[in-house]
Amino acid sequence: MCSEFPEGPGVDVRGEASAWTREQAERVRRTDGTVAPIIYPPERKIDPSVHIWDTWFLRNRDGSMAQIDGWRVFFSLTAPSELLPGKRHDVATIRYFYSRDGKSWQPGGRVFDVGALGSRQWAGSALYDDGTVYLYYTAAGEAGEEHLTYSQRIAMAEGGTVRTDGEGLSLDGPWTHSRILDPDGIRYETEAQSRGMIYTFRDPWFFEDPATGETYLLFEGNTPVPEGSDACGGDPVQQEFNGSIGIARSPTGDPTDWELAPPLLDAVCVNQELERPHVVVHDGRYYLFVSSHRHTFAPGIEGFDGLYGFVADSLRGDYRPLNDSGLVVANPANAPFQAYSWLAFGHREEILVNSFFNYYEYDRPSLDDIAALPEPEQLRRFGGTLAPTIRLDVDGDRTRIRDTLAHGHIPTAEEDLPGIWFEDRETAAGYGGATASYVDPENPR
Ligand code: FRU
Repeated sequence: MCSEFPEGPGVDVRGEASAWTREQAERVRRTDGTVAPIIYPPERKIDPSVHIWDTWFLRNRDGSMAQIDGWRVFFSLTAPSELLPGKRHDVATIRYFYSRDGKSWQPGGRVFDVGALGSRQWAGSALYDDGTVYLYYTAAGEAGEEHLTYSQRIAMAEGGTVRTDGEGLSLDGPWTHSRILDPDGIRYETEAQSRGMIYTFRDPWFFEDPATGETYLLFEGNTPVPEGSDACGGDPVQQEFNGSIGIARSPTGDPTDWELAPPLLDAVCVNQELERPHVVVHDGRYYLFVSSHRHTFAPGIEGFDGLYGFVADSLRGDYRPLNDSGLVVANPANAPFQAYSWLAFGHREEILVNSFFNYYEYDRPSLDDIAALPEPEQLRRFGGTLAPTIRLDVDGDRTRIRDTLAHGHIPTAEEDLPGIWFEDRETAAGYGGATASYVDPENPR
């Protein structure tokens, strides 16, 4: 409704945001380099008592994984494993898991027993700074609500401390929770302004820019597009697809002090949900990744449940879509919902990608038909644990899936993965040349 927009149609709310255009997104195709291998169920789930989905690591300010007396920690959205998987978003709570070897993970329990904001908590990120854990999360719904709502705001909890011994690790409060970001209705759409599907203001992601030392939070939002505006050639249906990658800046570097800034990138007329945005700095470039769904692309664009990415020479961009279209990892056509919520992270000279194991033995074009399956089948076909980690070759504006590791294998910084990159990789001609310089020690050529 126009009255919800303080400055009316035509206002420049995007600042210098890059755009993911329809022309670029229309190039999305499954290719050899972008289709992930089929995923089979693991022998054992990380924690059979809960469904595990969106996951993030405890990281240092510089983005590297925190290692505390040899232990590393990840956080996941979780729900009891008896619950129908489709209902899990309505009761999500955050749990933590820890490991020394990055292969077997121990459940640590719920992070917040009491006090978290919202009626449930959705995805976020976690910072380990000066011995304190800061957990950024989405407070979804209203505390104590009788009828489920989908309101969202960005919250944080500070004050977590980590204790370790030979056996394991524990993360304890007391936590202080605070609401840190709400949409301003100018650069970021409010729920009242939203007129399309699935409103978003969520998924905070801590990032320190190595070039400037400045501190940021990225998040998933929507760009306001008032009714009657000329966006998308004035097409009111396409205007409903208005996903953005938002960003807030800390003026002081204090990880609790945030101010909204104009979005980094948006996808007006292209896609409604640019989920869990995050940046990996690799070879001096900024790789900006999001997850998105087939059903959140605007009419006329055929996308997939997949990881999408963009590259720029600086944090603010301009961003160019990777592989010309933005597609980096797609689920295979015969298992189109096998994984979701991808999270890229640097490991030595590579980029690895974590995600969760979603629905398998299911090849319908939409997830809507899941609800028609008998309940035991809905439960059986939901992975509910971490997916195999993907190894991604990244070279400038091109990426290629190279290989996968085991389910939930997150290598330690010291861990050598099979294969060596020669020092002079850059001198190899083009992308094919870079691949040719790869030597697998188990299968030397
Ligand atoms: C992606 C997502 C996130 C959200 C969470 C809720 O998997 O939609 O954006 O925080 O799931 O469960």
